[in-house]
Amino acid sequence: MALQPKNVGILAMEVYFPRTCIQQEVLEAHDGASKGKYTIGLGQDCMAFCTDVEDVISMSLTAVSSLLEKYGVDPKQNGRLEVGGETVLDKSKSIKTFLMPIFEKCGNTDIEGVDSTNACYGGTAALFNCVNWVESSSWDGRYGLVVCTDSAVYAEGPARPTGGAAAIAMLIGPNAPISFESKLRASHMAHAYDFYKPDLASEYPVVDGKLSQTCYLMALDSCYKSLCDKYEKLEGKQFSVSDVDYFVFHSPYNKLVQKSFARLLFNDFLRSASSINESAKEKLAPFASLTSDESYQSRDLEKASQQVAKPFYDSKVQPSTLVPNQVGNMYTASIYAAFASLIHNKHSTLAGQRVMLFSYGSGLSSSMFSVRLNEVQLPFNLSNIASVMNISEKLKSRQEFPPEKFVETMKVMEHRYGGKDFVTSKDCSVLAPGTYYLTEVDSKYRRFYSKKASENGTLANGH
Ligand code: ACO
Repeated sequence: MALQPKNVGILAMEVYFPRTCIQQEVLEAHDGASKGKYTIGLGQDCMAFCTDVEDVISMSLTAVSSLLEKYGVDPKQNGRLEVGGETVLDKSKSIKTFLMPIFEKCGNTDIEGVDSTNACYGGTAALFNCVNWVESSSWDGRYGLVVCTDSAVYAEGPARPTGGAAAIAMLIGPNAPISFESKLRASHMAHAYDFYKPDLASEYPVVDGKLSQTCYLMALDSCYKSLCDKYEKLEGKQFSVSDVDYFVFHSPYNKLVQKSFARLLFNDFLRSASSINESAKEKLAPFASLTSDESYQSRDLEKASQQVAKPFYDSKVQPSTLVPNQVGNMYTASIYAAFASLIHNKHSTLAGQRVMLFSYGSGLSSSMFSVRLNEVQLPFNLSNIASVMNISEKLKSRQEFPPEKFVETMKVMEHRYGGKDFVTSKDCSVLAPGTYYLTEVDSKYRRFYSKKASENGTLANGH
């Protein structure tokens, strides 16, 4: 009998986001919002978006092919491919099938998995599926591959600055530098109408912004409580934020991440956990008797807990905020972009550390889960992951659009969504070498993509 695989988790990552972006300060002025609303109020500096040549399929093609190439993984070695996303381009045909040509070319069509959808949570469902597969008796010894991809766009109005776009690919297998602590996992699933997409003719969601914030925090509380209970049963001791080196949150905008982390400390206070010192106890004592409903509405509690959380936030959360702050909400990719930021910032000191992730998708589904970071051999070590992702360079090579051009692009995309029989501008001048792009949607709604020549001049065939 084969040995049980150990340390199953993420072996490798690649991050892709469009180069086209808009500064939040510029958008704020253009929208007539008060100065600082998007930058300080939401905590966002910049937002990426797709133009007419990019979509979730092209971004996924780029992320997957780049991952395989840069880590030297033979497409034949992949036995499972799962995509998480909520950006619907086809109600039947999965995004996964659009990625299959990469593997078909090598004669590999024996690849399980399809797409998972529930708002920003689908990527986590896909990741759990792949990890569970490698840990299961049906695992055939090959890699799993997960792709989280979304283009997050909102109608004009207060939600528009909380958009973004990206695709993140993750290779799954045993002996991973990022291994799952599978017993440390808790979920909260419920029915809510906080953000949903009932209008199939539109890419834009129907969103109740305030309700979505409360649902997010309620889900966070519930997951954290269950996780603490599970830990305490397993380990026979209390769990608190002190047992975690870094927290990574699904990040619709940074202000909500700040509030979420503060909420964990309030939970610790209510549980009399050791992370709360005397001075913090004093600050939070006035809120001890609030009902949970009252606690979500209390601005004073929000302020007091954020004050208590500040020093911990700087060390345990701040290192994961770079890409979400610069690219925006990438829906399913947001939490993994936050995780990628942590690796980017701290790769040389992460070995042995525990990271707790919180994934939230409106509607709603959510999970909190723990990973351990380990020192492993090339090409899958943390420093190599940081260098492959090359986040600083990707952020530096972007092209800022003025607001008028951004709004015009959104209009073109609105018009094209669900459409057929058009060719795109095919303008790939802004795209990085090796990036896939959409060229045409024909009269039968079939989509066609090409790949911009790689740096070494190699031209790939479109499909
Ligand atoms: N300077 C500094 N701060 C400011 C300023 C200013 N000039 N103006 C406003 N602010 C602050 C506000 O006080 C508020 O901060 P607070 O939350 O600490 O009170 C913040 O900026 C946002 O202002 P609001 O008036 O609350 O914003 P608005 O209602 O216009 O929209 C919202 C914010 C609800 C997040 C909206 O962008 C939205 O609906 N986004 C999509 C939904 C979403 O992302 N939900 C999160 C979870 S679900 C998901 O991931 C999709």
